[in-house]
Amino acid sequence: MRIGIPAETRPGETRVAATPETVKKLAARHQIVVQAGAGLPASIPDEAYAAAGAQIASAQEAYGCAIVLKVRAPDDAERALMPTGTVLIGMLNPFDAGNIAAMATAGLSAFALEAVPRITRAQSMDVLSSQANIAGYKAVLVAANTYQRFMPMLMTAAGTVKAARVLIMGVGVAGLQAIATAKRLGAVIEASDVRPPVKEQVESLGAKFLDVPFLTDEEKEIAKGSGGYARAMPADWMRRQAELVHERAKLADIIITTALIPGRAAPVLISEETVKAMKPGSVIVDLAVEQGGNCPLSELGKTVVKHGVYIVGEPNLATLVAADASALYARNVLDFLKLIIDKDDLLLIDREDEIIKASLVCAGGEVLRK
Ligand code: NAI
Repeated sequence: MRIGIPAETRPGETRVAATPETVKKLAARHQIVVQAGAGLPASIPDEAYAAAGAQIASAQEAYGCAIVLKVRAPDDAERALMPTGTVLIGMLNPFDAGNIAAMATAGLSAFALEAVPRITRAQSMDVLSSQANIAGYKAVLVAANTYQRFMPMLMTAAGTVKAARVLIMGVGVAGLQAIATAKRLGAVIEASDVRPPVKEQVESLGAKFLDVPFLTDEEKEIAKGSGGYARAMPADWMRRQAELVHERAKLADIIITTALIPGRAAPVLISEETVKAMKPGSVIVDLAVEQGGNCPLSELGKTVVKHGVYIVGEPNLATLVAADASALYARNVLDFLKLIIDKDDLLLIDREDEIIKASLVCAGGEVLRK
């Protein structure tokens, strides 16, 4: 099979869908075509791909392969380079109906890796986890960089410096890594989430869990989430959570928000009133900014100062760790490929397979996921 790896063109996107490590594994049985310069933003020179067995070629040639590996969904120009029947694999945003319809019209068989179900067999293909883990780590470093004080408690000859108080809102993959990273930097950490099992995970990392007790069976039921993901909580629970968060935010130096609900706008967790109540010079990093933000004052792609608080709205923090983000993503993609290439090295898309069923968003001109 010919497998193409084009350069990503979306502004700010630094990752690449294959690395010399994954190319080497694939090149033993397939022809690998890497667009010249595709790895440069992740510090991977063309020579490294060539040494791993890839052919370095134009965008046209990379997009002309039977299978195309991408990081982000193609734009109009990129889509036009792919012949009907091309198999496209990437983080294609399964909730973007317009883009999926366009890929269907172009006759692509497109796999959106974000839609891979969270079952044990698919763990090594879980791009949301591999990238969220990096985003959670980087969020703490960005916050520490913006914050005008130390993170750890220090006792010096010139006096004592207090440890920073960090509040993490939403403790999924990104939130857990944010707790672990902030802990290593010496911060004092509190965290909040809707899903009850999170409490134990938070405490095992040495942070304090902010409990908002459930008052009704409905609240308890919704908080369980579905498929490991959160559901939108009832307004009354959200109000009680907001009251508690408001009080804790007054004491916090850094707040990192990561709360998402798949396919919906991110829940508002830090209101303008809460920002106003925070200490001057404190920092909010809003990882949900692309989904509307957990704080209504955050601005996509910008760091703004509102009511004396620094609010970082960097949309895709994994791109700031381009080399490792690419390495982990490329391994996710490699494992996914094994699912659709048979032992004779030919394409075999088994529509009955649970992982394929969930992630194949269009094929044969048809939209398969609404
Ligand atoms: P996510 O990125 O969709 O959301 C981040 C966090 O925000 C979640 O923990 C969610 O509960 C929380 N959240 C949503 N609304 C909130 C609100 N109003 N207030 C506070 N928090 C709120 O979630 P992510 O990180 O993709 O994963 C969620 C969970 O899935 C993980 O913690 C893990 O338990 C599970 N998981 C399972 C895997 C598997 O079985 N293969 C692989 C990866 C994760």
